[in-house]
Amino acid sequence: MKNLENVSKLFQDPASTKVISTVSKENEVHSIVAGSIMVIDNDTLAIAEVFMNTTSANLAANNQAAFLAVKGMESYLINATVQKRHTDGPLFDTIAEKFAAMNMSIKAIWTFTVDKIYNESAGPDGGKQLF
Ligand SMILES: Cc1cc2nc3c(=O)[nH]c(=O)nc-3n(C[C@H](O)[C@H](O)[C@H](O)COP(=O)(O)O)c2cc1C
Repeated sequence: MKNLENVSKLFQDPASTKVISTVSKENEVHSIVAGSIMVIDNDTLAIAEVFMNTTSANLAANNQAAFLAVKGMESYLINATVQKRHTDGPLFDTIAEKFAAMNMSIKAIWTFTVDKIYNESAGPDGGKQLF
């Protein structure tokens, strides 16, 4: 993530808790836990649409999302913009295969462009913008 190794590491850590927040067209904020939040490359995040309904409706109506990862005292926040909802193609197929191995099917993969990154750790750097 923008060459910030600690940020990529925390978002890629299966043991971190990851949350996506979205906003409805009526401006209602909605947050869910999503284990599938994944780092695609330095500029791109993705999430698997497995159970979500409200979140996907919000993303279709409002392309802004916030991603929070936390483990222990370390936490980072990423603000991002929807790129695309993928229902086929190589990225969808690769991730669908991984879920199939866990006996789960996915409805779609959403990809996002990273806009801003904040350190939200418990410490003096909490709240500081990193990108
Ligand atoms: C540990 C954990 C991981 C989850 N991971 C995902 C996920 O990757 N994708 C997903 O669609 N829902 C996931 N869920 C379920 C969502 O938190 C949520 O309950 C569901 O998607 C409904 O979302 P909605 O309120 O936006 O409709 C997860 C829930 C938990 C507790």
